[in-house]
Amino acid sequence: LHRTVASIRSMRHALDPAVKIGFVPTMGALHEGHLSLVKEARARNDIVVASIFVNPTQFGEGEDFEQYPRQLEQDQDLLADLGVDHLFAPDANSMYGKNHDSFVSVEGFEDIAEGKARPGHFRGVATIVTKLFNIVQPSNAYFGQKDAAQCCLIQRIVDDLDMPLHVNVIPTVREPDGLAMSSRNAYLTTTERQAAPVVYRSLCAARDLFLGLPAESSIPAAHIQQVVESILASEPLVSEVQYVAIDNKANMRPIDDDVHRSEGAIISLAVKVGSVRLIDNIVL
Ligand code: PAJ
Repeated sequence: LHRTVASIRSMRHALDPAVKIGFVPTMGALHEGHLSLVKEARARNDIVVASIFVNPTQFGEGEDFEQYPRQLEQDQDLLADLGVDHLFAPDANSMYGKNHDSFVSVEGFEDIAEGKARPGHFRGVATIVTKLFNIVQPSNAYFGQKDAAQCCLIQRIVDDLDMPLHVNVIPTVREPDGLAMSSRNAYLTTTERQAAPVVYRSLCAARDLFLGLPAESSIPAAHIQQVVESILASEPLVSEVQYVAIDNKANMRPIDDDVHRSEGAIISLAVKVGSVRLIDNIVL
């Protein structure tokens, strides 16, 4: 016997792998947002693994699973140029065998704003990311702040299930006009694309209002919400506002009353521009 250890930390430390694997899970149709995660992974690990898998279990009834853009060859070239060592691109059948019965679901995530808007989505994400972590066994995994609730979900799983890796959250990469990069932006028509920056504009206006307040003061969450909603309402091509939520950024639970500077609040929203669903967020 080499040693007896009692703490999780010491057990981990004793087995810490010498070679660090950095992992970037994606659904492909790669853009600069994805690539910023890859660059970060490349800079901080010995081996970089990316995955491309359009995960059927995280898409709801009537969502865009079938239409989701698939462009493996182009993605391969982009990843090769950035020095990725391995690309894991399984086909759908190999990830979910016909006897697949195990799912990972994190209590409460169906009740947050994005969870209510997409029933079953987070269970699908939690399950596939757990499977991918088990396959790749990374020391570091990279996720984008654009999907803020997803980042919280993954951190929760890693903490709760003692997965031996660090979750790294990378800032949202935007187009020059502020629109958050997304594979789904490709669905926008030319006029919808021109209208879409209203999403980030509405968030910035609310943040600026908030930051304009004296440091010790607070503002009702409902007021921040109204500012965002009124700006979204000024754009006729915004066909639906699914939610504008003011949450605690650590757990994405709503802040019901006043928002304070020190609170770590995040405004997140989901809208449809034409028929395209867009999400974005800004930390206050
Ligand atoms: P996907 O939408 O392809 O995104 C892959 C990763 O890229 C996610 O961590 C996402 O937050 C990040 N990302 C997307 N747009 C970004 C942007 N504009 N700036 C910075 N990062 C951005 O998210 C998923 O795939 C899936 O749910 C997945 C985690 C792969 C599980 O199936």
